[in-house]
Amino acid sequence: MNSNPSFQEQSTRPLKSSGVGLPWHVAIIMDGNGRWAKKRLLNRVKGHERGMNTVREIVTASREMGIGILTLYAFSTENWQRPKYEVSALMNILRRFLKSEQTEMTKNNIRLNVIGQPDRLSANVQKVLFETLELTADNSGMVLNLALSYGGRNDITQMVRTIAQKIITGKIDVEAIDEQLIADHLYTAKLADPDLVIRTSGEMRISNFLLWQIAYSELFITNTLWPDFGKAEFIQILHDYEHRERRFGKV
Ligand code: FPP
Repeated sequence: MNSNPSFQEQSTRPLKSSGVGLPWHVAIIMDGNGRWAKKRLLNRVKGHERGMNTVREIVTASREMGIGILTLYAFSTENWQRPKYEVSALMNILRRFLKSEQTEMTKNNIRLNVIGQPDRLSANVQKVLFETLELTADNSGMVLNLALSYGGRNDITQMVRTIAQKIITGKIDVEAIDEQLIADHLYTAKLADPDLVIRTSGEMRISNFLLWQIAYSELFITNTLWPDFGKAEFIQILHDYEHRERRFGKV
């Protein structure tokens, strides 16, 4: 999905002289929409709708703060197993979000990127998705990376298949397989690994999100439900990250 030659440069973390500073790549597991709705005796879809407002707020805050890449886990491979009405409501919300944010993304120099299986989305969502990808392709301010029909295991499976195919057809040797080659064949190829993973609604799990890529990411789990999450708490978490000591397995 990243055919633009300037993509590599934009998606690579700038070198810093000291300290961990702000995270370059923030990845978020947006959880708790259903519980937010249930607490108010509302349909789960109302929770997703409110969740869309939070998405808008966090995208804007990230851009203002100078985040390089914001990855949002919007729809997992497992989410296809939800009731049909909920899946189609989520697709509808996604389509409306993309359509309504096209102008904002252009104005704020945000480039849209997608990881996962966009080809599994319905035709009307794909249409607006590819339109937005094309429209924002030259933007260089921030990458908004949407995980759509994304699963970490699916990501690894498609990577293995692609590499195996290249070996069979003689394009690469088995000896050429190293960590970089693997990273280059994941959906996130050319994107720096997440520095910080945030999960809302208090669950202590990764839920098949970016399994390879988060090997050394810092984690922050907040009890706040996604529709109640906002800029103020997001900034607090970014400041908490600034005080972390990242050792990457070294002393
Ligand atoms: C998890 O909450 C959330 C999702 C499965 C979907 C996330 C979608 C949004 C935030 C809507 C808008 C997104 C975009 C990109 C416009 P849950 O339903 O699992 O909540 P629960 O665990 O409380 O039931």
